[in-house]
Amino acid sequence: MRRPWVVGVSGASGTPYAAAVINGLLDAGAAVDLVVSRAARLTILDETGSAFRDAHWRDDLGTWLGRDLAAADLVHWPAGDLAAGPSSGSYPVRGMAVVPASTAACAGIAIGLSKDLLQRAAEVNLKERRPVVVVPRETPVTRSHLEHLIALHDAGAVVLPASPGFYGAGASATARQLVDFVAGKVLDALGVPHSLFRRWAGELGAGRDGRESADDA
Ligand SMILES: Cc1cc2nc3c(=O)[nH]c(=O)nc-3n(C[C@H](O)[C@H](O)[C@H](O)COP(=O)(O)O)c2cc1C
Repeated sequence: MRRPWVVGVSGASGTPYAAAVINGLLDAGAAVDLVVSRAARLTILDETGSAFRDAHWRDDLGTWLGRDLAAADLVHWPAGDLAAGPSSGSYPVRGMAVVPASTAACAGIAIGLSKDLLQRAAEVNLKERRPVVVVPRETPVTRSHLEHLIALHDAGAVVLPASPGFYGAGASATARQLVDFVAGKVLDALGVPHSLFRRWAGELGAGRDGRESADDA
């Protein structure tokens, strides 16, 4: 039986995080069900210069991810389709990552608003006690943002802020390395193997010196 990971892309800044997570899942041979919120179309356009259109999603996703998707096990569900597979707990999925997660998405999921398929799918995965990783991207935050994150934590989600560490590649880390650090932590939380960052091995400066490649880690 096909059991994909659901990836929900909401309208926070940080579309490279979403691209890196989707690429990491596909690289691991996982199936992916994709939900892109209406607001995320704006951030994708803003940050990549490319449109994301429901009618041309495979072409647009291929452009965004920079890869040929011909062999990828991918399903796209329009965010307005509340009859889509992931809106039901009986639809078989492994769990879900919301990356990046807007404050609006965090609030909606935390209170069970289900205003679109992204929020509904996240709520469904929480109620089914499947792994859910939420990657909030906002700073600074209000008390209500923090309360919604606590509610998500208490509901069983892993709250994994887009907060890259520099120990993997040192202070001169590239933006790509910092994005991959966050994406790798998301895949760790889902239990999906990857080599997106160098793991801490108990040696100060190893990442900075480039003494060990991420592939070896
Ligand atoms: C270019 C752009 C960047 C945005 N960046 C953020 C952000 O970093 N964090 C955030 O919480 N909202 C951000 N927003 C606002 C959200 O898109 C807005 O709250 C929207 O209602 C979220 O809807 P969604 O959760 O359904 O995707 C941004 C909006 C735009 C247009």
